[in-house]
Amino acid sequence: MIGYQKRRKPTLIGSSECIKEVKRKIEEASSSDMPVLIRGETGVGKEITAKLIHLASGRKRGPFVVVSCPGLLPSLARSELFGHERGAYTGADKRRIGKFEEAEGGTIFLDEIADLNPEVQAMVLRAVEKGEIERLGGKERIKVNVRVIAATNKDIEKLTEDDYFRKDLYYRLIGHVIHIPPLRKRKEDIPELIDHFISLYSLGKPPVISKEVLNELLSYDWPGNVRELEMMIRRICEVHGGRRVGIEELRDMGLWREEGLRVKMPSQFNLKEEVKRLKRKLIMLALSETRGNISKAAEMLGISRQGLSKMMKNLGIKKGGNDVDGGGNVVTI
Ligand SMILES: Nc1ncnc2c1ncn2[C@@H]1O[C@H](COP(=O)(O)OP(=O)(O)O)[C@@H](O)[C@H]1O
Ligand SMILES: [Mg+2]
Repeated sequence: MIGYQKRRKPTLIGSSECIKEVKRKIEEASSSDMPVLIRGETGVGKEITAKLIHLASGRKRGPFVVVSCPGLLPSLARSELFGHERGAYTGADKRRIGKFEEAEGGTIFLDEIADLNPEVQAMVLRAVEKGEIERLGGKERIKVNVRVIAATNKDIEKLTEDDYFRKDLYYRLIGHVIHIPPLRKRKEDIPELIDHFISLYSLGKPPVISKEVLNELLSYDWPGNVRELEMMIRRICEVHGGRRVGIEELRDMGLWREEGLRVKMPSQFNLKEEVKRLKRKLIMLALSETRGNISKAAEMLGISRQGLSKMMKNLGIKKGGNDVDGGGNVVTI
């Protein structure tokens, strides 16, 4: 299923004013070669936006290389991005090409760029500004022809003020800025997205979403944005393909147990418990989408791998993704 998902042609579904504006900006950015900064919460569609720009640009026949910056270990970030020569450090027994060289003639997508350490930021700046990189342990400068598209869900201006993010790199990146609003601010896109995901995942046996479920989906806040909606529809298709889906079916699937997740405040609740539940739910969702890959799940959640492991331990989520306290999250990986 995941492989199938990766191969599918990217499309940006939605007719809200927000999405129309994003589409206009994609068009604008596609006809230029300047860097792009894409902003928005996790799951709003930053990566597909970057891919769409690449595919509509003059570089479409070149590679589209994705780098997840939070997933780069600080000690290895430089060699991942820029490569290394043989013998550059202990264990570097072969010359290795980095992501920038891999993207030659195409586009590099630096996801969560705010997580790059300042030393590496300086090198990215040189690559953007001068089109030059240096392999770790190398003496020559290598010319690269790569377009940079970066994404962040952080308040990057604040990070530049506090000197966590280089101002000069920030000013370079904002050649084009595309802000993708969270799903809760464009709920009119939800029905169209549901239809789209049903046609993607139902394999000829679409479930019939009842009116009351649709109403619930429309009133929900979607903290995981389109990704969360996609996962929910995918599970509904798997479990209830060809059948009517009412609230009971959702509850049976463990999807609708968590009243506290709604925007509406429940009359009684314990903040700590609710936060724990929300954390567990989002972690399970991320693990499910990444098939249990902790590094990728951590990246998706915007936290470090170590942080996620610790949280999983505290919440009693096993490595395989099973919710050991049997909290009803039937998310299996
Ligand atoms: N407008 C949209 N139309 C169709 N699919 C979308 C849309 N927005 C997001 N998605 C899907 O949701 C998932 C998360 O999107 P992604 O681009 O990875 O988000 P982000 O990079 O912002 O976390 C992907 O599977 C993507 O295809
Ligand atoms: Mg992403």
